[in-house]
Amino acid sequence: MNKKTIRDIAVEGNRVLVRVDFNVPLDIKTGVITDDSRIRAALPTIKYLVDRKAKVILCSHLGRPKGKVVEGLGMSPIARRLSQLIKIPVSTAPDCIGSDVEKEVNKLKGGDILLLENIRFHAKEEANDPSFAQTLAKLADIYVDDAFGTAHRSHASTVGVAKHLPAVAGFLMEKELKALGDILTDPKHPFATLLGGAKVSDKIGMIQNILDKVDLLLIGGGMAATFLKASGYEVGLSLLEANKQGLAHALMGAAKQKGASLFLPTDVMVTSSINEEAAGEIVPVGGIPADKIIVDIGPKTIELFSKNIKKCQTVFWNGPMGVYEMPQFSRGTKAMAELLANMKATTVVGGGSTAEIVEEMNLAHKMTHVSTGGGASLNFLEGKMLPGVTVLLDKGK
Ligand code: 3PG
Repeated sequence: MNKKTIRDIAVEGNRVLVRVDFNVPLDIKTGVITDDSRIRAALPTIKYLVDRKAKVILCSHLGRPKGKVVEGLGMSPIARRLSQLIKIPVSTAPDCIGSDVEKEVNKLKGGDILLLENIRFHAKEEANDPSFAQTLAKLADIYVDDAFGTAHRSHASTVGVAKHLPAVAGFLMEKELKALGDILTDPKHPFATLLGGAKVSDKIGMIQNILDKVDLLLIGGGMAATFLKASGYEVGLSLLEANKQGLAHALMGAAKQKGASLFLPTDVMVTSSINEEAAGEIVPVGGIPADKIIVDIGPKTIELFSKNIKKCQTVFWNGPMGVYEMPQFSRGTKAMAELLANMKATTVVGGGSTAEIVEEMNLAHKMTHVSTGGGASLNFLEGKMLPGVTVLLDKGK
């Protein structure tokens, strides 16, 4: 990574504004955090700053309150969880800018941690309003961006603020850029990319960008229906992105031309309606009934995907293989998670729902890297520059 990190800057005694991504899944009524992995992922940076007696000011969004104060989206539950994890008190501020916040910042001693209130309670955050960014920047001497998950957003706390302060990357940002960057620049071969999830349109840019590098491209999940239809199969009532069939066809042609082997399901689980009670039935892809919906990959496909993925040195996985939320349709997704967790290869899992799945299955620690960024990791793998990274200081300057 050619960006400066907190190792390259003297933080001792300084007020350090750290943009973290504490946008964690939580029960809005009870404040119970259902997956704290984004908080745990930021700990190395926070601990490093605390150990060096920096005055740590943390800033994050939570949910999409759209510029208004929304009850249940305040940062207090996050502060409590962070305090439990880091084992020191974490104070909270009544807002993220303003005189009351300045008073809290002035009270900080070296090694203290203050968590600002949800930055998206202000509409000026997402608008990247210059005066809002400047006011935020006035709270600190140094800016650290450790919010990889939000680095694809050009907001005041991810981009605007960096104009006013020396801006460097935190350890999580560094780790994410290295793990995902290696996939783009230096994957060990054979390299497999396993894709799932509902929509082809979410993944097109990424497929196009990595097609040159992959040896195997395996497609499951809802998006497989569009590829199957483009290959001449009937897919019943499965969700189809009709206008994307031509593109799926073109991608299959491009994969062939570039020498990448493309694998689609050979059998699938189908059902009449997607609900908790619905039962599934396994059918070959040539025999999908007209009134059924694809909800998972079938056992033969699990075997086919597993046999080929096992031969690989690098595997990138993004997107569930079926309607994972319902246990009866989660077999394919679980099989892929377990397969990757037990491989010796470099295994990188994209953020968002795929990361939540491996966390929930308690397999995250068995992967080489589980990204904390959903949209951010997709944007990065599409080859796009992430605005939150671009604004950080370059090494050697
Ligand atoms: C995420 O969860 O992907 C990040 O926190 C960004 O959130 P956003 O999609 O609401 O900008």
